[in-house]
Amino acid sequence: MTQKTPELLAKEIARCRDMTDKPFGVNLTFLPSFTAPPYPEYIAAIKEGGVKVVETAGRSPEQYMPELKAAGIKVIHECTSVRHSLKAEKIGCDAVSVDGFECGGHPGEDDIPNMILLPRAADELKIPFVASGGMADARSLVAALSMGAAGMNMGTRFIATKEAPVHANVKQALVEATELDTVLVMRAARNTERVLRNKGVDQLLEIEREKGGKLKIEDIHEQVAGVYPKVMIDGDMDAGAWSCGMVVGVINDIPTVKELIDRIMTESEQIIRKRLTASLTRLCQMRQRARLPDGDIS
Ligand SMILES: Cc1cc2nc3c(=O)[nH]c(=O)nc-3n(C[C@H](O)[C@H](O)[C@H](O)COP(=O)(O)O)c2cc1C
Repeated sequence: MTQKTPELLAKEIARCRDMTDKPFGVNLTFLPSFTAPPYPEYIAAIKEGGVKVVETAGRSPEQYMPELKAAGIKVIHECTSVRHSLKAEKIGCDAVSVDGFECGGHPGEDDIPNMILLPRAADELKIPFVASGGMADARSLVAALSMGAAGMNMGTRFIATKEAPVHANVKQALVEATELDTVLVMRAARNTERVLRNKGVDQLLEIEREKGGKLKIEDIHEQVAGVYPKVMIDGDMDAGAWSCGMVVGVINDIPTVKELIDRIMTESEQIIRKRLTASLTRLCQMRQRARLPDGDIS
C-alpha cells in the first residue's frame, strides 16, 4: 500500500478523480507487517471516495466482504494458487488476479509459474481472472488471453514508466537488470518475497543462511523495514529488499503509460492478425497433409 494513512488515501482518490472520469481501483494489502495499518479506516476512505473496485491481497478479505459488497464495490483478490482462487470465489469475490511464481512481490509458497497456474485457474474457476506475474508486453497479453485470462495485471513493468512516482535510479535499475537478477527472500518465515538483488539483499541472504529454519522477521528488520522510502524516494539502490519480478528481464525502456498501453494494444493486434493467423494457416495445411496417403510429401 503506497498511501501511508487513510487520510492520504482519501487525498489520492480525490486527485485520481480529478484526473479521469474513467473507473479506477484501490489495492488493500493484508500482509504481515511490523505495525498493522488501520484497515477499517482505509475502507471508509474507499467508500467515501466512491471507488467501485478494490483489489485485495495477502490474507483473505472475507471479514471485509459484507461491508465492501454492501457499498457496491467489486472485489478482485490476488491469489497465488488455484485453491486460494477457489476460496476467493466461494466468499463472493467478483474476480481474482492470479499471481504466478515469476511475479514481483509475494508469490506464495507453491512456486507454480503462470504457464501452469493460468490454465489450471481456467479449468477450475467460474469467476473471471486476470493474469499477474511476468506480464510486460503484447506477447504476455495474448498468451494470457489464450490461457483463459480475461486480461493482465502488470506490477514491475509500470514502475519503469515516466509517470511512476519513484526515483530515476529505480527506473534505470529496471532497464539494466536481467531476468537473472531477482531472488526470493524470507522463505523460512513463510513470507516469501521476490526482490531485486542488491547489497542489502545480499546481507539479508547471508543472515538467512546463518539462521536457517530459525529465521525470525526481527533478524532481518534492517534489510526489509523502511527500505521503500530509501529506494523509491532517495534512489539508494543498495538499501535492501524491494519487490521486483523476473519480468525485469524484458523491460528495456521507460515509456509513458500511454505509450506503453498503446504499444501493447497495437502489437497484440499484430500478433493475433499476423502471427496467429499465419499459424492457423500452417495448422490447416498440416491437417490437410495428414489426410493424404502415407508417403505423399506434397
Ligand atoms: C515494487 C512493488 C510493490 C508491490 N506492492 C504490492 C502491494 O503493496 N500490494 C500488492 O497486493 N501487491 C504488490 N505488488 C505486487 C503487484 O501487485 C503484482 O502482483 C506483481 O507485481 C505482478 O508481478 P510482475 O511484477 O511480474 O508484474 C508489488 C509489486 C512491486 C513490483
